[in-house]
Amino acid sequence: MQTRIYKVDPEKPSDDVIEECIEILKRGGLVVFPTETVYGLGAYTFNPKAVLKIFEVKRRPPTNPLIVHISELEQLNEIVAEIPDVVFELAEKFWPGPLTLVLKKNPKVPDVVTAKLDTVAVRMPAHPVALKLARIPIVAPSANIAGKPSPTTAEHVIKDLYGKVDAIIDAGETPYGVESTIIDLTKKPPVLIRPGALPVEKIEEILGSIRIQTKTPFYQHYTPNTSLLVIETEDYSNFEEYARKFESVVRNLAKDKNVAIIVSKELAEKISVNAKVILLGSRKDMYELCRNLFKSLRRLDELNVDLGVIEGFEEKGLGLTLMDRIRNASNFKILKV
Ligand code: TXA
Ligand code: MG
Repeated sequence: MQTRIYKVDPEKPSDDVIEECIEILKRGGLVVFPTETVYGLGAYTFNPKAVLKIFEVKRRPPTNPLIVHISELEQLNEIVAEIPDVVFELAEKFWPGPLTLVLKKNPKVPDVVTAKLDTVAVRMPAHPVALKLARIPIVAPSANIAGKPSPTTAEHVIKDLYGKVDAIIDAGETPYGVESTIIDLTKKPPVLIRPGALPVEKIEEILGSIRIQTKTPFYQHYTPNTSLLVIETEDYSNFEEYARKFESVVRNLAKDKNVAIIVSKELAEKISVNAKVILLGSRKDMYELCRNLFKSLRRLDELNVDLGVIEGFEEKGLGLTLMDRIRNASNFKILKV
């Protein structure tokens, strides 16, 4: 298949490109587009054949449901069966933005979208390209091959999906670089299904306490091809000690392996090891650490080393999101020091 690539200004995407891509979607095609979180692989929600293609192209298990993207609250009526009042409160505060809500599904939504569940996930994305395209409701998982790190640039998408989709809209790097936060509002109390770019503490200001689901994941997720080890500790406040332990573990591993480390600049400055270094950003800026994670995991695979070793972070605010992605990426190969 020929894949068209459209380069657009992320703030002011050309109307012609948007209209052309909406046409492709309406005809049952697949369009990759940027959101404020990661790139999404989009199809028109009410075309089950097109939606099915998403699962084929991504090699995604059909039991894993998709998120519907909308641009206006009125569209909720054709997606969900009932709208609890709290949805309006949340929407007022966080939409458009990186918050996905799971609600009772409208029977009109094709089963292929929701993997036959009676609930549906929905969000209103903040990225101007995504928001304009979502004039028609679009289902979109992250635009990566299932199990691999999510794409935060069009180059990542081109590597995974070129020739398999009708169009790719390139608007440069996505601002958050991690996916939306997903809250299941059909449960009482509401359940956090996936920590994401919106810290759960902010949502709790409206919803009250949210149950954090810590079940073992069904699917391998975000994993690079290179094997990855996370080094965690109970308490990062004694950072000197953590750095000494991290250094000693890496020195041992580097005796008979080619190692790359994925670390904050603060940790990089404190240790001296025989390893390639991928910098995630500063521990003082959780947004930066999140934004750089997926591309760092892809970078790891380009370095051709035997092993990656990645720093751990406190699970507070966006740290919860960061550690969710890191642990999944490592396939839960965790060393506690
Ligand atoms: O930021 C994002 O959410 C990105 C961008 C493209 O919008 N999308 C994204 O989609 O991350 P995906 O498919 O990679 O992840 C969606 C997650 C899956 O883990 C899926 O299991 C969950 O949402 N999900 C979807 N519908 C659900 C439902 N009805 N109940 C529970 N979980 C659901
Ligand atoms: Mg995904």
